[in-house]
Amino acid sequence: MKIIGTGCSHPQKIVTNQMLSQMVDTNDEWIVTRTGIKERRVVSSETLEDMAIDAARKALGNAGISAKDLDFIICSNVVNEYVTPALSCIIQGAIGATCPCVDLNGACVGFLYGIDMAEAYYRSGRVKNVLVVSAEEPSRMLSWEDRTVCVLFGDGAGAAVLSEGDNILATRLTASSSTFSLYQKHELQPSPFNTKPNSNLPLVMCGQEVFKFAANASISDVRYLLDKTGYQPDAVDKYLLHQANVRIIEMVREILKQPKEKFPLNIQKYGNTSSASLPILLDELNREGRLKEGELIVLSAFGAGFVSGSCIMRW
Ligand code: ACO
Repeated sequence: MKIIGTGCSHPQKIVTNQMLSQMVDTNDEWIVTRTGIKERRVVSSETLEDMAIDAARKALGNAGISAKDLDFIICSNVVNEYVTPALSCIIQGAIGATCPCVDLNGACVGFLYGIDMAEAYYRSGRVKNVLVVSAEEPSRMLSWEDRTVCVLFGDGAGAAVLSEGDNILATRLTASSSTFSLYQKHELQPSPFNTKPNSNLPLVMCGQEVFKFAANASISDVRYLLDKTGYQPDAVDKYLLHQANVRIIEMVREILKQPKEKFPLNIQKYGNTSSASLPILLDELNREGRLKEGELIVLSAFGAGFVSGSCIMRW
């Protein structure tokens, strides 16, 4: 396939490091030096559905196709107010599409799981145009009293339209179960037959363990893709890495011995927006004209599960 359009949408509310330092025992200097984040956007009066729909409409507009031309909608999403129906169904109705749709939870790798699924459906001959939307509100998964996590995340939505082409050269997905390092449990409706206690826990993260997994996974995924396609690291024009921590991105960059310009960043403005991180970055670069036709691009992400994913494509 080929990405023919991108879009994104952000909440209005900007939460700066300074604002957080009035809520928990933290400061701008710690957050900037340990993570690279200066501020993040956080959902207040808007809904996640509205942002997902906005990002989807913008991606369709950028692609120059109508919602009726879509053959499939895939929405990656970790948490939202609707348990059912799927967010992809809500998006489908709002934009006026009539195709099948499905949600997936690939944690922060959801966008790349979506791209991989779209490509697989396309290769099977069943679809021509696919919309992948990633919409996330981690601000409602975490405790705003826990300084070790509340400074890291932000909300947002990103989307891409994929169509006929041979620009996606290779993808790789991995999963290795590690359910105690990064997780959140939420309460379900009571049942007279349930004999287990209900859990309602905010996001728990063992930061250093996640950090090590993330850096190792990204390096090994990128190397795998380069080996598979026969390219050297120098041949890649841009590396788009999950915007979780600037130090993880720096570590990958140094190991691959590549210049800073090849690793675009927007983490300073948005923090970690989970699976929305990559399509938001992609859309910014696309709209700023920073992606040239034919450029070789590598995308890489990692997240709870643990899962990781990567993709090498021509723009
Ligand atoms: N402000 C001030 N001090 C803090 C804060 C804060 N917000 N958070 C932690 N600290 C303190 C700790 O309490 C600790 O203090 P101590 O030395 O007195 O015990 C000190 O800072 C160092 O803490 P560490 O946890 O060792 O800090 P580290 O350098 O590992 O950075 C961080 C923490 C930023 C979380 C890092 O481990 C990290 O980025 N991990 C990866 C996280 C990640 O990428 N998550 C997302 C991936 S998956 C997904 O996207 C869902």
